[in-house]
Amino acid sequence: MISGFSKLSKVEKIDYLVENYFSGSSRVKGDLKAFWHDNPNSQKVFDEFSENTITNFYSPYGVVPNFMLNDKLHMVPIVTEESSVVAALSKAAKFWSTRGGFKAQVVDTEKLGQVHFIWNGEKSKLEEFFNSNYENIIAHITPLTRNMEKRGGGVKSLTLVDMSDKEEGYFQIKAAFETCDAMGANFINSVLESIGSYLKTAIPAHDAFSDSEKEIQVVMCILSNYTPNCLVKAWVECGIEELYEPSQEMSADEFVEKFTRAVRIAQIDVHRATTHNKGIFNGIDGVILATGNDFRAVEACGHTHAARDGQYRSLTNYKIYDGKFRFEIELPLALGTVGGLTNLHPLAKMSLDMLENPSAKELMMITASVGLAQNFAALRSLVTSGIQKGHMKMHLMNILNQLEATESEKEIVRTEFEHKVVSFKGVRDLLESVRSLQ
Ligand code: MEV
Repeated sequence: MISGFSKLSKVEKIDYLVENYFSGSSRVKGDLKAFWHDNPNSQKVFDEFSENTITNFYSPYGVVPNFMLNDKLHMVPIVTEESSVVAALSKAAKFWSTRGGFKAQVVDTEKLGQVHFIWNGEKSKLEEFFNSNYENIIAHITPLTRNMEKRGGGVKSLTLVDMSDKEEGYFQIKAAFETCDAMGANFINSVLESIGSYLKTAIPAHDAFSDSEKEIQVVMCILSNYTPNCLVKAWVECGIEELYEPSQEMSADEFVEKFTRAVRIAQIDVHRATTHNKGIFNGIDGVILATGNDFRAVEACGHTHAARDGQYRSLTNYKIYDGKFRFEIELPLALGTVGGLTNLHPLAKMSLDMLENPSAKELMMITASVGLAQNFAALRSLVTSGIQKGHMKMHLMNILNQLEATESEKEIVRTEFEHKVVSFKGVRDLLESVRSLQ
């Protein structure tokens, strides 16, 4: 055990780590420092995002060109370590750019939070307390909400929810918020804590309550990452015959039949639905990370939405009508384009600039469309050539880079593996034999 680790300087932390976990290796020490930013001021910004930071963990930052959304072309930044994600997205973006592009629409932007509390007594008296104190609660939180109100947001509603049939004495105040272009987590949590402290003072002071009813236990005050009304829809649509591509080696009708069956399978089978939605989040998370948003929050919410009728299902769906194919996604996305990391992380800022500084609503539409594009690309590969063909190319590149192959060695190995299954051992053996001949 070490105490006071957080108080050590960054260099002292590295020294401790290297001494105790890497046998004092000067190479490890050098490697950790090699990933520091050249500019100490920039490094300080990264260090201060989190705690006990010792270095940076790099991820590839790629871009998807030709992403047509609501008749506007975007260059979409994607942060992902997974090979083929950007390539697949780029292909899908290009494909749909000549078929009307992606369309999207925000349904609503409501965020939610809850004050969870325990109170025992006559429920009608609690309701009376809540209704007669509604305006007082609003007045109590006004110092926190004033600025947000000036921007057009604030608290939309407060609702008393009786959950006492599930847990003795359990009630909630459910608060709905509009946070404009901010994701709003800090704002929401501060307001909820303020409501919690109001209850702790006002309930014991409420004359109509008996002594036992004057007792309240505020369990927790926290936003909910499940925001079913912070909803966005995106879709693509074209004539079925427009889906034909010579490389597919199947007719448009056959493609549609296979593609739509794959979607139906993800609607009915939970194992397939999980993988199907994971592919959607390959794209969504890429944008979320690149723009400094919270991918854990977005994922948690998306998966809850996918299970909203009791069974976990595909987030995408399709329609066939009047000879047309429509592929669509609908999901909640609580995003921000101001505040938090969006302004602090230099690359998040750059991503937002690249996207021409979208509002939160515009970013919701871009992100949902990227999820849809990713899913289209994945299903298209799966029901035609299979995904391994594309993946193997990238896998081979990664192995060759790991083995520090030169450009000419790469060329030889790539040709050799054109029609073979790629394995680390196979590539290493071939590279060794190539090198032995040089
Ligand atoms: C891989 O990261 C994602 C896919 O498995 C998604 C899917 O199967 O739909 C290709």
